[in-house]
Amino acid sequence: MPWGSRGNHQPNANGNDNGKFSNANRNRKNYSSPWKQKIAQQRKSLPIASVEKRLIEEVRKNDILIIVGETGSGKTTQIPQFLFDAEFCRDGKVIGITQPRRVAAVTVAKRVADECGVELGQKVGYSVRFDDSTSNSTRIKYMTDGLLLREALLDPYLSKYSVIIVDEAHERTVHTDVLLGLLKRVQVARSNSIGDGRNLNNGNKSSPLKLIIMSASLDARTFSEYFGDAKAVHIQGRQFPVDLFYTRFPETDYLDAALITIFQVHLGEAPGDILVFLTGQEEIEAVERLINERLTKLPEGSQKLLPVPIFAALPSEQQMRAFAPAPSGFRKVILATNIAETSITIPGIKYVIDPGLVKARSYDPGKGMESLIVLPTSKSQALQRSGRAGREGPGKCFRLYPENEFEKLEDSTMPEIKRCNLANVILQLKALGVDDILGFDFIEKPSRTAIVKSLEQLFLLGALTDECQLSDPVGWQMARLPLDPIYSKALILASEYNCLEEMLITVAMLSVESIFYTPRDKYEEVRTATKCFASPEGDHITLINVYRAATDLLEKRTMDTNKAKSEKVLRKWCKENFINSRSLRHARDIHRQIRGHVQQMGLKLASCGDDMLQFRRCLVASFFLNAAVKQPDGTYRYPTQLRNSWAGPSGLLAIYSLCSKVIHTLQIKISFCYLFLIAFTFTSKKKNTLFASSHNRALASGEVVQIHPSSVLFRKKPECIIFNELIQTSNKFVRNLTRVDNLWLTELAPQFYAMQN
Ligand code: CDP
Ligand code: MG
Repeated sequence: MPWGSRGNHQPNANGNDNGKFSNANRNRKNYSSPWKQKIAQQRKSLPIASVEKRLIEEVRKNDILIIVGETGSGKTTQIPQFLFDAEFCRDGKVIGITQPRRVAAVTVAKRVADECGVELGQKVGYSVRFDDSTSNSTRIKYMTDGLLLREALLDPYLSKYSVIIVDEAHERTVHTDVLLGLLKRVQVARSNSIGDGRNLNNGNKSSPLKLIIMSASLDARTFSEYFGDAKAVHIQGRQFPVDLFYTRFPETDYLDAALITIFQVHLGEAPGDILVFLTGQEEIEAVERLINERLTKLPEGSQKLLPVPIFAALPSEQQMRAFAPAPSGFRKVILATNIAETSITIPGIKYVIDPGLVKARSYDPGKGMESLIVLPTSKSQALQRSGRAGREGPGKCFRLYPENEFEKLEDSTMPEIKRCNLANVILQLKALGVDDILGFDFIEKPSRTAIVKSLEQLFLLGALTDECQLSDPVGWQMARLPLDPIYSKALILASEYNCLEEMLITVAMLSVESIFYTPRDKYEEVRTATKCFASPEGDHITLINVYRAATDLLEKRTMDTNKAKSEKVLRKWCKENFINSRSLRHARDIHRQIRGHVQQMGLKLASCGDDMLQFRRCLVASFFLNAAVKQPDGTYRYPTQLRNSWAGPSGLLAIYSLCSKVIHTLQIKISFCYLFLIAFTFTSKKKNTLFASSHNRALASGEVVQIHPSSVLFRKKPECIIFNELIQTSNKFVRNLTRVDNLWLTELAPQFYAMQN
C-alpha cells in the first residue's frame, strides 16, 4: 500500500476516535517527499505487505492467532500499523506489542513512528522499565513483556488494549511464558464480562481481547496447542543463500578469532556490512577498542571500518546508529549481543561472524543460586544468526567453531522458566491474585523444586506469610518495585536502617553491567588507578564512592556551565578513572527512577552519611542468602554450619505446594497451623524423607567459590562476606562483595541462621 493512501487512512481512524488524535496530527513530522517515498517503497517491498488483507481477515475471524514469519519479513513494524488502519483502535483502545528486550521495543517504536510520520510518544510510543515514551494519544505501544505484566497489577483486565501482540514468543523468556498464561486468563475474563454486561474500566465499554502470538521460528505447534489448537499462519520470507564457513579447530580465544575474522572480511571481501555476535557489553566494548587500535595500523588508503556497538544498556540515540547506513567510504561492523538474532533487523548485513556463544541465566534450584554463564548457542540460534547474512542478497557466515561442534548443539534453547529463579515471577503472580502457583497454566511448567525453592526464598525475605499469602505491607511493597525481590527488600530494609540513599545508589550501580572498565589482564593497573574510590570494606561502598564522586563533579559543573559541557567533563573523568561512562549514566538514570518509586511508596529517605557500619549491617540483613565464609585454602563456601534446621519450613513449603492444589479444588479451608504440625512431625521424625533430604542437600551444597579478581577485596580475603553476583567461567567467582562480621548473620537473619551451639 503506497504511503499516500496510508496517510489518508488516518483521519478516518481519528474520526472514529472522537478526535482523540488531533494531538497526534499536530505532532506529525514534516518529512520530505523523497524520504516518504523511500520509506513507502521499503514497506511495500516487505514480504508481509502482500498479505495485509488476509492477515486482518484472520485477526477478525480468530481471537487468538499465531503468526510465524522469517526475521525481517515485517511482522513487528507492519502488523501493528495494519491493525491500526483496520480500526482496531476504535474507542481509544491501544494495540500493545511486547518484546523480550528493551532495545527492540525502543528501536522498533522509533522506526514505526518514523514510518507513520509522527513524533515518538504520540500515536506510536514505547514503555520499558525506567523509560516511558507514551502519552494519552499513544495507540501503538511497544513495550517489554515484563512491563505488560506490571501493568496487569494495576489493570488486571488490561482493559485499554484491544489487541495484544506477544512478539518473539520463540525466545520463551520467563516473562513471555508467564504473560501467555496471564493473557489466556484475561481473554476469558473479558469475554465473560461481556456476556454478563460488566464494564471493566471505569465506564469504558468492555470488548473482547484479540491475541496475536508472533514467532520467528517455524515451530508454531507448541503455541497452537497451548491455545487450544489456535490458528497459525506462516508468512513466506525471502532468504538468499548463505555460505557457511567453520574453523578447522576449536578456538581457544574466540574474541581474538573474531577480531582476525573481522579484518579478513574487511580486507578481503566485497562491500557489505559485518555483524558479529558477542555475549555482552564488556566483550563488545573490548572488541570495539581492539578494532579501533588495529585500524590505526592499517596502511594508508585502506577502506575504512566503523565499529558500531548495540546492546541493551546502550543509550537509545546510540542504539539507533546501528540502523543508519555507513558513511560513504566506510564498512560498518555491528557488534551485537543476541538481540540481533531475531529481535531487530539491521539492514545492509552481508557477513555474519558467530563465535557460537551466548550469555544466559542459569539457576540451580537445589542451591537456590542464580548465575550468568556463557553457553554454546542452540542449533536454531546458530541458524537464525547465519540467516542475518542473507536478507538482502547472498551472504557469508563464519562460525568460529569446527563443523562437528555444530552437530553437538542442542536443537533449541531451553525456555528461561526452566533455568531461572522464580521468586520474581511468583511475587508478581501472587500480586495478580494467582494463589496456586503450581496450578497456574504455564506453557511449560517449571520444576516443583524450583517453585518450592523460590517460595522459600520469598518466605525468608518476608514477602510471604505463613499461609503463603503476600505479606502486608512488605510483600505488596516488594511486588510494586520493578526490581528483583532481593533488591526490593534491601530498599525496604534500608529505610529502617536509615541508609536508603546509600542502598538506592547500590541497587542502581548493581543493576548495570560493570561500572569499572577492566581490560582483561589489567586488573592491577585498574586497581591502582581506582584506589581513590576503593573502600577497605568492599565493593558496595566502593561503588557508592564512585557514584558520589561523579555527583559531586556534576554538581560543581552545573554552577558554571551547561549540561552538554558537564556531560563532556564527566566522560573525561570516567576515562581517566577506568569508569564505564555508559554504565554510570545508565545507573544514574535507574537511580532517579527507583528513587521516585520509593518516594511514592513513602519510604523514609535518609542517609547514614559516613556511618558505613550501619549500611554494612543492612547489607547483611538484605543479602544474607548470599553469604560465604573463608576456608583454610582461601576459597569460600556458604556458611552452612551456621544454617538453621531449615528442614522444617522447607518441608512445610513443600507440603503446602503439594496440598494447595487439593485445597483449591476441594475448596476446603484447612488450617495452615494444622499443616505446619503435620510438616513438623514429618520432618523431625523421618530424616530420610523428601523434606529431610532437601535439608541435607542444603547442608551438602558447600559450593566452593572464589573472589573475582576485579573485587577490591581480591587480595584481602576477609573471613566472612556477602556478595551479589555469582559468575561461572573457568571457576566459580563471586563479585560485588562486602566484608561482614559472621555474627551479624545470626543476629540479623535469625530466620535463616542459628548459632552453631
Ligand atoms: O519483525 P520482523 O523480523 O518480521 O521484521 P521487522 O522488524 O518488522 O523489520 C522489517 C524491516 O524494517 C526490516 O527490513 C528492517 O530492515 C526495517 N527496520 C529498520 O530499518 N529499522 C528499524 N529500527 C527496524 C526495522
Ligand atoms: Mg520482529
